[in-house]
Amino acid sequence: MSSTSSPADYGIDAPYVLRNLLIAGTAALLVWLSIAFGFWSGRIGPLRFGPTGFLIMAIFFFASSAGMLWSSKIGKVREREKLLSKISWRGDEQVLDVGCGRGLLLIGAAKRLTTGTATGVDIWQTEDLSGNKPEATLENARRENVAERVKIETADMRKLPFANASFDVVISRAAIHNLYAAGDRTAAIREIARVLKPGGLALIDDIRHFRQYAAIFTENGCDVRRINSAAVSMFWTILTFGSLHPATLLVRKSPDHQKS
Ligand SMILES: C[S@@+](CC[C@H](N)C(=O)[O-])C[C@H]1O[C@@H](n2cnc3c(N)ncnc32)[C@H](O)[C@@H]1O
Repeated sequence: MSSTSSPADYGIDAPYVLRNLLIAGTAALLVWLSIAFGFWSGRIGPLRFGPTGFLIMAIFFFASSAGMLWSSKIGKVREREKLLSKISWRGDEQVLDVGCGRGLLLIGAAKRLTTGTATGVDIWQTEDLSGNKPEATLENARRENVAERVKIETADMRKLPFANASFDVVISRAAIHNLYAAGDRTAAIREIARVLKPGGLALIDDIRHFRQYAAIFTENGCDVRRINSAAVSMFWTILTFGSLHPATLLVRKSPDHQKS
């Protein structure tokens, strides 16, 4: 085990996407160099390619890779503090992190607890997060001095192994979009609404599908507020040609909602 002074390591999000961007950037750079320095004419049959487009592509792919790396290593730890500050913590909450990975939000929440417990569930997919495994989450909890307030379980978010109304707060970051079928995402949001106590809060931060999440929460007795900047979200949507549409939802389950 590493020394107690090592900082927590929350892994790299979508590591294969990062790898593919680096491969694409390197390929575009090599093509640009070969045309620019006269090793290749840029001709394929009747088509002739100039070097500038490949240079722009290389810059785009490398800049995207750098952005992803910065976000995973620095940005997401800063972002978690901003996110978790949206909740007024008492300290005695039962908290659930859905798709907790290596414990970014789970541990951030545990730091705000005194007598409460933060539980994380995940299926530990390494294509979604580098080094994703329960041991890494527990090691991070130990490094952040909150191991006694953290529990983890291997469980699928579409069928949470908890009784109705078990949690005061449910949090989830960059996890639910990994369910590619709309029906699966609906099941996950219903499960979150089910395990929330009446009056409880959910904080959902994800890179796409927020309209679907909001609709399902509403159908399941919750009041939903989008709390991120719509302009920043639109900027990412334009920059990524529609691939990302990030949003943060603050959800409150109606205090009058039936427990069963
Ligand atoms: C990009 S990672 C984010 C991890 C963590 N929330 C964070 O912010 O660092 C997405 C996580 O969702 C988890 N995940 C994907 N599908 C899941 C499912 N059906 N049930 C539970 N977790 C799932 C992955 O294993 C991974 O840990």
